[in-house]
Amino acid sequence: MHLMKRKILIHPDPRLKKVCAALPDISDEIRKLADDMLETMYAAPGIGLAAPQIGVLDRMIVLDCVKEDGAKPEPVVMVNPRVIGASDDLSTYDEGCLSIPDVYADVTRPSEVRVEWLDLDGNLQERDMDGLWATCVQHEIDHLEGKMFIDYLKPLKRQMITRKMQKLKREMARE
Ligand code: NI
Repeated sequence: MHLMKRKILIHPDPRLKKVCAALPDISDEIRKLADDMLETMYAAPGIGLAAPQIGVLDRMIVLDCVKEDGAKPEPVVMVNPRVIGASDDLSTYDEGCLSIPDVYADVTRPSEVRVEWLDLDGNLQERDMDGLWATCVQHEIDHLEGKMFIDYLKPLKRQMITRKMQKLKREMARE
């Protein structure tokens, strides 16, 4: 199968603010999209990517939070993912986003979550996630609601980041 790296949208972009639509079923088109998303994520490189970040407004995310050099990759594709349980315990992580390059900020979220999703065979899956996986999956599911990690920051900080990104996009357009 021919894999295709897709262009990642940079904030601000109206498509990153949209609530994405649930996918009614799994098709070859969806499987191809999943492969392209993984290819795009690994190339970036990143540990997670949501479909709206490549301009596709479907409820689909990919992630692989194995970061150790030489460790076996653990790609996970989630269609229609949902957080169905969350711990009271919170953890704070210095988050970043492929749609907001080179910007990092502390975000506090539940440290453990239970997530339910459809896999590419159309089977319902459920998994408890903690550590970086928990942070990442919540961050990616937020994207499907049109929410980004900077939405957790104070308005002034958020505006500063948005202006920085507008400047970056102007520079990229010029090149
Ligand atoms: Ni992101």
